[in-house]
Amino acid sequence: MTEMIRAEKLEFQVPSRNILSIPELVIEKGHVYGIMGPNGAGKSTLLKLLSLLEAPTNGTIYFHGEKVSAQTVTLDQRRKIAIALQQSLLLDSTVFQNIAVGLKIRKQPRKVIKAKVFEWMEKFNIAHLADKHAYKLSGGESQRVNLARAMILEPELLCLDEPFSALDFPTKMKLVEDFKSILTTSGTTVLFVSHDLLEVKSLTNELFILMNGELQQHGSTEDVIANPNASTQSFINEWKSYLTL
Ligand SMILES: Nc1ncnc2c1ncn2[C@@H]1O[C@H](COP(=O)(O)OP(=O)(O)OP(=O)(O)O)[C@@H](O)[C@H]1O
Ligand SMILES: [Mg+2]
Repeated sequence: MTEMIRAEKLEFQVPSRNILSIPELVIEKGHVYGIMGPNGAGKSTLLKLLSLLEAPTNGTIYFHGEKVSAQTVTLDQRRKIAIALQQSLLLDSTVFQNIAVGLKIRKQPRKVIKAKVFEWMEKFNIAHLADKHAYKLSGGESQRVNLARAMILEPELLCLDEPFSALDFPTKMKLVEDFKSILTTSGTTVLFVSHDLLEVKSLTNELFILMNGELQQHGSTEDVIANPNASTQSFINEWKSYLTL
């Protein structure tokens, strides 16, 4: 059990109100964490703070025991964290070039880049799309490119904000299954914001439930779903009622 991130007294405020208030939160290496909660609960805000994109109003974040902040984060630390969002935001170029871009910035040799891009395209079942223009891809294909682009950098921490939510159900579940097997071999630590309990059940082994900017429950995904507490039961049981339809 290795601690990767520790957040203490984490708060994010805007002039009119508190958006987030979390006394303590620990992310351990190798786990896949789900972050669920109602709209506006603060999930995306929490992800932005933990991925060091935005600074909290108060509180401290430690990355491998070192105090870090969005202002002081080093390039080396920044490169250990990758982010993929709901919108894939691909570049005006081919699939190959989109996946290669991070390694190019890191000035890897061309041969290495080519081999790695093909390796990751194969893992995500998109090798046949290598020369296709990114803007001509389907939603599911774009999201595969988006994830391959992040994973090729072999991040220690991968932060995902609803990456599958714009996909139709079968496309989503196929990608979730493929992604799950990729994560099993990569050992990447993942923070996965989702509003879909089915995705969360398939992909994550730990689950945080965030409501009104506060962490209401944390435990193994199985246990949180099976045993919601007084604060989370209405949220989780509503989901469970849909899943057993
Ligand atoms: N910079 C900001 N200024 C003002 N309000 C903000 C700011 N950032 C977030 N908020 C508000 O904080 C709350 C939490 O936002 P956040 O995007 O983190 O929620 P979320 O849980 O990701 O919601 P969703 O499920 O809709 O994506 C929302 O009410 C949002 O309007
Ligand atoms: Mg959000």
